[in-house]
Amino acid sequence: MTITHRDNDAILGRDDVDDIEAILSVTNSDVDEIQHIVADNADAIFTWDYSLARPHLRKLYEKAKVGQWNSTTDLPWDTEVDLEKVVTEDQSAISAGLSPDHYDGTIIEKWDDKQWLQFGLDNRRWTLSQFLHGEQGALLCTAKITETVPWYDAKLYASTQVMDEARHVEVFARYIDEKLEGGFQVNAHLRLLLDDIINDSRWDMTYLGMQVMVEGLALAAFGFMHQLTSEPLLKQLLRYVMSDEARHVAFGVLSLKEVYDGMTDAEMKDRQEFAFEAAVRMRDRFLAQEVWEKHGVNPKDVVPLILTDPTRDLFQTMLFSKIVPNCKKLGLLDRNDQWLRRRFEEMNVIQFEDLEDTGEEYVKFALDEGDEPANIT
Ligand SMILES: [Fe+2]
Ligand SMILES: [Fe+2]
Repeated sequence: MTITHRDNDAILGRDDVDDIEAILSVTNSDVDEIQHIVADNADAIFTWDYSLARPHLRKLYEKAKVGQWNSTTDLPWDTEVDLEKVVTEDQSAISAGLSPDHYDGTIIEKWDDKQWLQFGLDNRRWTLSQFLHGEQGALLCTAKITETVPWYDAKLYASTQVMDEARHVEVFARYIDEKLEGGFQVNAHLRLLLDDIINDSRWDMTYLGMQVMVEGLALAAFGFMHQLTSEPLLKQLLRYVMSDEARHVAFGVLSLKEVYDGMTDAEMKDRQEFAFEAAVRMRDRFLAQEVWEKHGVNPKDVVPLILTDPTRDLFQTMLFSKIVPNCKKLGLLDRNDQWLRRRFEEMNVIQFEDLEDTGEEYVKFALDEGDEPANIT
């Protein structure tokens, strides 16, 4: 039987992945929202089999128990952060992540240093705010995995991740509040993705959406900012968070490998589509439309240029440097006539497929391996 994937419209709500109008029409219409309720359609599963069936997950569990750190006492919260100085230094290192010449003819061609700085300050607030909201997504997802995964070893591990994610939410929220003077509401593309992950009734989809896709991207993005920033508190905060995240992605990859190796083509089709949807939603969220709007720029004027900006493209594609090799390891790239490989080729991220996957890489990120990980991007 030939497997037919759904078309882009059915998966993404638009025919053309790069349809700017459609991307920008997804906005957060209630920025004052305090509570967001999502139906969680999954069965909670007890298991009475307490045997050691998956030693590789138990090894991760042991690592997690000794890898815990204290967000209150292990980070130098009394560090004075001169935000304008830090953002100026960080921006000068990467030209604000954009190629300035690429925007001739738009309103930002005329921006002076002061305006770039104001944009940079909000971009920093926005970026860390989305990290924060994503961390809360991870907190809820791993609480869900603890309930829904049928394996004892995985329940034990997932419970440690709940605590890890609580720390991550705590440190990003505190940093934004104390050092950045406030943040941004959740980006609508990110929220759509988090809703889809929580909403799905199949327990492996929580893993795929959160552990492999969202956390894979977070690990790359944290690594990039950790290397970039000169701010010592943020640098250390990210270093600590990354030591946990690498374990989390490994948990996803090691668990799903076992499940996906035994799946039918039809079952794999759904996972491929979900991975594709997640990849596109995450790319869309990084267009940062809220920040442009706040600075008087119509996102429709700049987003088409952002999508073809070579400096920005480097950063954008790097975000997928963990996701693509992990998808390959799970068989998602090449099953069903290489459907996901073709999609990642179109997104220009397939070049990462042969990088090291994250199944074992967490060892390098462990805090006891020294302060700097050997390879963090
Ligand atoms: Fe996290
Ligand atoms: Fe995580």
